Amino acid sequence: DRIIGIMGAMPQEIDGVIGLLQNPKEVTLGMRTYTSGTINNIDVIVVFSRWGKVAAAATISTLIHVFNVSEVLFTGVAGAIDPTLNIGDIVIGKRLYQHDMDARPLMQQFEIPLLGKTYFESDAEKLKHAKEAINPLILDNGLKNLIGEGVLAQFGINTPNLHIGDIASGDQFFANNKQKEQLHNSLPTILCVEMEGAAVAQVCHEYAVPFLIIRTISDAADEQSHIDFPLFIKKVSSKYSVGIVKQLLHQL
Ligand code: ADE
Repeated sequence: DRIIGIMGAMPQEIDGVIGLLQNPKEVTLGMRTYTSGTINNIDVIVVFSRWGKVAAAATISTLIHVFNVSEVLFTGVAGAIDPTLNIGDIVIGKRLYQHDMDARPLMQQFEIPLLGKTYFESDAEKLKHAKEAINPLILDNGLKNLIGEGVLAQFGINTPNLHIGDIASGDQFFANNKQKEQLHNSLPTILCVEMEGAAVAQVCHEYAVPFLIIRTISDAADEQSHIDFPLFIKKVSSKYSVGIVKQLLHQL
């Protein structure tokens, strides 16, 4: 049976999604609140994990074992690493790296010990559907209707772009150009950085559960990020999540 787990790292990333649920019911486990219900007659469980790889791994594990999810969508924010990305852009993760995994000299940098992998790949079919589903949000004034042109302008968001590519996760908030350049130099294909996606991806790989990680750029992972990030979280991240979930559950 189809049951979709919808995760974020912070309440602000998923509050709006909980608001979409028909017949919401709450269960609290491990200091997390799981809200089940339906969207468009599709069964979903929504939860925020808190920040970081451990919190995300524990949460996805519970979604799989206790709530029997058949697929997972993670929606939240990320800092831009690739210079072509702007605040307000959306990234669908293709390959998920753990940038802080480093067992050298025993293994190559980023290799996940004993799995023989340096990244986890999202489901190709779901990625293609997500791209088609989310495109109208960007092209047809979808975001302007959802968030308001004035608020978007406040963040300097003009016409957001949709990117498909690689995401790096680790237990670090990126807040300066030195950190950012270091990651860019060691993993040049990385589009953005966050703190949970690749942990979710690893557990989903281990249990053969298809996943999608979709991130909105909240900051440029630079000296300005400690100001940009909280503002974006407060004002727009929930609305982006609502838009993304609505698009996906209408079209997938
Ligand atoms: N999530 C959003 N912005 C981030 C940043 N700058 N570093 C890590 N995770 C983030």
